[in-house]
Amino acid sequence: MMNNDTNLQAGLNWRLSVAPMMDWTDRHCRYLHRLLTRHTLLYTEMVTTGALLHGDVPRHLRFDAQEHPVALQLGGSEPADLARAARLGAQWGYDEINLNCGCPSERVQRGAFGACLMNEAALVAEGVKAMRDVVQIPVTVKHRIGIDKSESYEFVRDFIGTVAEAGCEVFIVHARNAWLKGLSPKENREIPPLRYDVVARLKREFPHLTIAINGGFKDSAAVAEQLAQVDGVMVGREAYHNPWWLASWDEAFYGAAPSTLTREGVEELMVEYMEREALEHGTHWYSVARHMLGLRHGMAGARRWRQVWSDHRLKVLPAREVMALAHAGDARE
Ligand SMILES: Cc1cc2nc3c(=O)[nH]c(=O)nc-3n(C[C@H](O)[C@H](O)[C@H](O)COP(=O)(O)O)c2cc1C
Repeated sequence: MMNNDTNLQAGLNWRLSVAPMMDWTDRHCRYLHRLLTRHTLLYTEMVTTGALLHGDVPRHLRFDAQEHPVALQLGGSEPADLARAARLGAQWGYDEINLNCGCPSERVQRGAFGACLMNEAALVAEGVKAMRDVVQIPVTVKHRIGIDKSESYEFVRDFIGTVAEAGCEVFIVHARNAWLKGLSPKENREIPPLRYDVVARLKREFPHLTIAINGGFKDSAAVAEQLAQVDGVMVGREAYHNPWWLASWDEAFYGAAPSTLTREGVEELMVEYMEREALEHGTHWYSVARHMLGLRHGMAGARRWRQVWSDHRLKVLPAREVMALAHAGDARE
C-alpha cells in the first residue's frame, strides 16, 4: 500500500481520467486501462458507504498496485459514514476519495445520495469536511450541472461555492442535468442536453478550483479543445468501448514519448494477468476478458476476435488457448 506522502509526491492531476462506471470499471478493467496509459487517473465503480461499512471490504477495495493513480468513488450522504468509508479508502491506498453527486438512479435516490444531493449542498459540504478531517488525500466531488429541467446557472454555481468552502478543491462536472423523474440512468446519460459552456463558465468563476468536464467525449480533438478552457476531461463510455484510444493519451496530453504498445502486446499482457489472477484469486479469465472486447474496435476482423473472447462455450479452456483461437482467423483477414 502507498502511504499518503507517496500519494502527494505522485502529484495527482485530473487532466485526463476514466469515469467511474458501475459493473464496468472494476479492478480488471482498470488494469487494462493502466497498461494503455501511465498517467490517466482511474476511478473505481461507485461503492456505497453501506457496502463498505457492513460488507466485504477486501472485495470492494482490493486493487493491483499497478493501478495507481486510482480514485475510490463513494456513494453516501451521512457525514459520519462517509468519513469512516473514506478512512478505509485511504488505508487501502487509494489516491483520492470522490463523492458521487451525479447518479440519478431511483435506488440511489431512495438512499438519498447521488444526484439528489445537489439539492443539499450544505449536507455535501458537511460530508466533505468530515472526510477531509480524517484523510490526507484529496476529497473531490462529481456532479451534474443541474436537477430536472432547471437551467439555473446559479444553482450549480452555489453548489460548488458551498462545497468548496468545506475544502473541496476539485469538481468533476458531468455537463448535463440529471432528471430525477421519468428517465432511467441510461437515458439520463443521453437525453438531457450537454451544455459544455456551463462548465467553462464555472471555471472562469472559480479559477482557483480544479474543474474537470465530463460527458460525450469521443476523440482527442474534442478533449484538447476542452483542455484549453478547463483543467481536465473525464471520459466514460468511449474509453470503455474503444480502450485503444487510451494508448495515445500519454503522448497527446502528458507530453510523454510515443507509445510503443501494440494491441497484440496488450492482449498478451492481459492473458498473463488472467493467468496470475486465476492462480492467486481463482478469477475466471472471462471476468477479465469482458473488459477488453473493444480492444480491436474499428479494425478488420474485430468482430470475429471479439466473438471468440466472449464465447461462453470456451470458458472450459485456459485463457491462452482462447487467445490462440481468437488469432486463428487473423491470417485470413
Ligand atoms: C455503465 C455505466 C455505469 C456508470 N456508473 C457510474 C458510477 O458508478 N458513478 C458515477 O459517478 N457515474 C457513473 N456513470 C456515469 C459516468 O461516470 C459518466 O458520467 C457518464 O457516462 C458520461 O460520460 P461519457 O459520456 O464519457 O460516458 C456510469 C456510466 C455508465 C455508462
